[in-house]
Amino acid sequence: MRALTCTAFAEPEALTVQTLPDPTPGPGQVVLDVRAAGVNYPDALMVMGQYQVKPPLPFTPGAEAAGVIAAVGEGVQGLQVGQRVVAFTGTGAFAERLLAPAHAVMPLPDGLDFDVAAGLPLAYGTSMHALSDRAGLKAGETLLVLGAAGGVGLAAVTIGKALGARVIAAASSEEKLAITREHGADETLNYAAEDLRARLKELTGGQGPDVIFDPVGGELAEPAFRSIGWGGRYLVVGFAGGEIPRLPLNLPLLKGASLVGVFWGEFARRDPRGNARNLRQLAAWVESGTVRPLVSERYPLERTPEALRALLERRVTGKVVVTP
Ligand SMILES: NC(=O)c1ccc[n+]([C@@H]2O[C@H](COP(=O)([O-])OP(=O)(O)OC[C@H]3O[C@@H](n4cnc5c(N)ncnc54)[C@H](OP(=O)(O)O)[C@@H]3O)[C@@H](O)[C@H]2O)c1
Repeated sequence: MRALTCTAFAEPEALTVQTLPDPTPGPGQVVLDVRAAGVNYPDALMVMGQYQVKPPLPFTPGAEAAGVIAAVGEGVQGLQVGQRVVAFTGTGAFAERLLAPAHAVMPLPDGLDFDVAAGLPLAYGTSMHALSDRAGLKAGETLLVLGAAGGVGLAAVTIGKALGARVIAAASSEEKLAITREHGADETLNYAAEDLRARLKELTGGQGPDVIFDPVGGELAEPAFRSIGWGGRYLVVGFAGGEIPRLPLNLPLLKGASLVGVFWGEFARRDPRGNARNLRQLAAWVESGTVRPLVSERYPLERTPEALRALLERRVTGKVVVTP
């Protein structure tokens, strides 16, 4: 099979497509014929050696894929050859075939495209876990999403709407904000052009948002936290802006607010049932049209480095997928 291979931690352009032996499933494992693999910011960090997980070299990046089961190992129950599934494995997905433990594989409803399904576990799983399990977002509350046109950001906009919140989408350009409006954002804020605090005051009648979803960090975090409402929950999701911000701890005190960490991968490992419940809910929302994931671009395997570069250069909206 052809597989993208990382032989040294370096820029995405150093990745090469190599021919590797087809994987065979051991006990409790399945092999997927990959039809689409989701591309995520952590993939780019991982190949550069900047992610919290550093796989032993060489390895094939790609955290998640949708496809058809090609082989089933001993002792696997409930999964058969030919079945359409989605899998989250952390690595290995940018390849024609993916070896996955059966517990990391979920059957796909018939109405779900491979392209859409491939981008669900990480981005949508993270945003669902963040808003629902970690923030306890309630209908009628106001949600501010930073980096709102990106992978987890656009997922948070649509999931926030599905949970009944009023959603303020914040991003760095009018083009990106237009996409968030197409996906249900009630209000928008351009943080490259407007004063974040003044605009939030205006949009919330001085009350501040109840929940803030932050996958960007950097310079945005402190003014955003200073704007949060009484009893607010600030979701620490990621640092795509580069800098890990430092917050004065008097800020949560003054607002009776919480700083809430989100680590979807560890949640999925510790609570696979909770994660499966979230993914089933997401699949049902996608099938009913309540959540409409945006797949903005599809790349063939050998052009995966271009997809990773686009993420690093802030050029991606919604999800991009690799179609081996
Ligand atoms: N905690 C978890 O469990 C978890 C799970 C998945 C992802 N994450 C993290 O969440 C973050 C976003 O991931 P993603 O896959 O959604 O990425 P993405 O699609 O690239 O979105 C990131 C957004 O951040 C904004 N941004 C600001 N400065 C940036 C910069 N210097 N470079 C790139 N983007 C920048 C961009 O929006 P604007 O241009 O509008 O500012 C962009 O749309 C990453 O840090 C990732 O590691 C965390």
